[in-house]
Amino acid sequence: MRKRVLRMYRIVRKEVLNPAVKLMDIEAPRVAKSAKPGQFVILRIYEKGERIPLTIADYDPEKGTVTIVFQEVGKSTKLLGTLNEGDYIADFVGPLGNTMEVPKGAKKILGVGGGVGIPALYPKLKMLHQEGYRVEAILGGRNEEYVIFRKEMEAVCDKVYYATDDGTLGKKGFVTDVLKDVLENDKEVDFVITVGPVIMMKNVCKMTKEYNIPTIVSMNPLMVDGTGMCGACRIEVGGETKFVCMDGPIFDGHLVNFDLAMTRLNMFKKQEKLSLELYEKEHGGGHHGR
Ligand code: NAD
Ligand code: FES
Repeated sequence: MRKRVLRMYRIVRKEVLNPAVKLMDIEAPRVAKSAKPGQFVILRIYEKGERIPLTIADYDPEKGTVTIVFQEVGKSTKLLGTLNEGDYIADFVGPLGNTMEVPKGAKKILGVGGGVGIPALYPKLKMLHQEGYRVEAILGGRNEEYVIFRKEMEAVCDKVYYATDDGTLGKKGFVTDVLKDVLENDKEVDFVITVGPVIMMKNVCKMTKEYNIPTIVSMNPLMVDGTGMCGACRIEVGGETKFVCMDGPIFDGHLVNFDLAMTRLNMFKKQEKLSLELYEKEHGGGHHGR
């Protein structure tokens, strides 16, 4: 009988970006070599663990590393957050999904990112900057601490606007408040890329539609198998059913049914809460250092 080869993926860097969000560089040379902006990976911490889909935040083909950024929202992401540099995870499958296409003739591109969606926007803007487009960004979060990846974004953008819910950085308000001003005053924006909470992407797309500016979004639904078999990640785009794991995660934002996507995201909230409560009970109220 053939022996199963276990491949493990080492965590080579870990950073705490804010109280809820952590960054890790994972040694995964094959993924790093073929990754493209917008694509995602599915990881499992241990062999029988839950599959966690995460949009790639950066990749370095020379070092052979892939950067992931995650918010500790449920049992699995909390467990991932307890791992440290030098630890291993069992599975790291990718790169998965599609990548972006910029409309012909576009020159000026605007990225709109919210909260933990900002790192997922970063590789797209980085590549466009390298390709010579004029790139600007509007980044928002609950407060200054939650507007992550600022240094990285400023390095690849010609201009960055900020918005925070409490006014601790940039304009007080949502990213859409800044977007309104930008679109009103700047008639040269040819293309918008937005990544963040579904409600934010919905409102960004509503606004860009009024200005007739092509807009893409990166959808982040629940995923189970990640192979197009289970249907967990289905959304509606232009009246058709699409599987985000196979057809996405990038879609034409003016065609996505965001209300349905939000309903589906909330469908399993009860089970997720129960699973997290059980985990925290087992691990003593959420504190579980290694
Ligand atoms: P959050 O709720 O703190 O919101 C971040 C920012 O989004 C706000 O500061 C605001 O500027 C904007 N925003 C929020 N609600 C808005 C509204 N109603 N109208 C206009 N703008 C609004 O975000 P968070 O807690 O960091 O959550 C991040 C979300 O991003 C999660 O829901 C996650 O699923 C999603 N996400 C998506 C991807 C992806 O690839 N699509 C990747 C990572 C995370
Ligand atoms: Fe199962 Fe996409 S995650 S079909």
